Amino acid sequence: MNEKHSDKEFETRAVWSGTQNIEGAAVTPIFNTATYQLTDERYAGWADGAQHTALYSRLSSINSEGVAKKLAQLEGAEDGEAFASGMAAISTTLMSLLSNGDHMIASADCYGGAYGLMVEDLPRFGIEVTMADMRDPASYEAAIQENTKILYVETITNPVIKVCDLEAMAALAKKNNLIAIVDNTFATPWGCNPVDLGFDLIIHSGTKYLGGHSDLIAGLVVGRKDLVAEIFSKKVHFGGAADPHMCYMLERGMRTLHARMPIHTANAAEIARRLETHEMIEQVNHPSLASSPDYKVAQRIAPRGTGMLSFVVKGGDGAALKFMQNLDIIFEATSLGGVESLVECPFNSSHMFVPEDVRIEAGIVPGFVRMSIGIENVEDLWNDIDKALTAAKTD
Ligand SMILES: Cc1ncc(COP(=O)(O)O)c(C=O)c1O
Repeated sequence: MNEKHSDKEFETRAVWSGTQNIEGAAVTPIFNTATYQLTDERYAGWADGAQHTALYSRLSSINSEGVAKKLAQLEGAEDGEAFASGMAAISTTLMSLLSNGDHMIASADCYGGAYGLMVEDLPRFGIEVTMADMRDPASYEAAIQENTKILYVETITNPVIKVCDLEAMAALAKKNNLIAIVDNTFATPWGCNPVDLGFDLIIHSGTKYLGGHSDLIAGLVVGRKDLVAEIFSKKVHFGGAADPHMCYMLERGMRTLHARMPIHTANAAEIARRLETHEMIEQVNHPSLASSPDYKVAQRIAPRGTGMLSFVVKGGDGAALKFMQNLDIIFEATSLGGVESLVECPFNSSHMFVPEDVRIEAGIVPGFVRMSIGIENVEDLWNDIDKALTAAKTD
């Protein structure tokens, strides 16, 4: 890894880490090439495992190296790899580190795609998965078996916005010799650095806050060098490589992460505060609220919060759908973390394939809405929400 700027403050690393000023270019140029000339240096890199040598763009490219380095330095991690999507990062990581007969612990209250992989696909390869409660480290402890290898959590869960006690989870993993993996997408490295709390691997959907503009699909894994090398060796087989053009856009987005996040999080906290007293709202989930069951843990683990919030509209899914249809600024679409505000009902989108009873148990009850708060003017956003909630009222 290029250590240049690794000792600098977050904002400087966000702008400069991983950027390769080739031929005097101020930003890393796009290397739109499938393959690279085999020089002595590249043959040597190949013999050394090929991980950080641009040889063939499915393995590693100048652009994918740049974004992986940037995230590794933002997270304070030893090493990193970029992938074609967040799900490519998650599936490659789990399929690299787990084998037939192994067991992992996760939670049903995680991103629906990750949940699907864990309950439908991993068992087909003889890998056992137990679902526990991310809010309750004791439930993870109770699920540990002799063959348990991985403890998997999300810093802030999708879509119920629960905050996980990463410190307690990392201690549990260490005590039991488990690999601790966290999806840090909702908190971002600006909000939380799980390496400092004892986590081995950090996963991100780069599609979200890191890219920041809803215009690319990307994934990354950073963390312990030995584990990242193992994941790289299987990425070569599974093929979920990050293409150079996407990496260029992702690097551009990551350079402004620290400029965007304070607006996302402040807007979300203000909207959560106002929603709490709205007559059409049954419940609001945001860790900035003193009333949140996660408030104390959030102050310790991710005090800067998140731009994500969720809430329950009175009147069930019918009212929630009517609410969304009456929004003028906030855009009805799945995904999150872009500069524009997005809204969805998880029951018919991101978590559609999670069985209804599992959804309800996790807190995705009728009327549940997930919102990604953008960086628009907060009064404009609030007026849009207030007007649409009034329109959703059925007397
Ligand atoms: C928390 C979280 N992790 C992972 C993913 C998967 O990322 P991608 O859509 O880039 O594959 C998502 C997607 O919504 C997500 O919200």
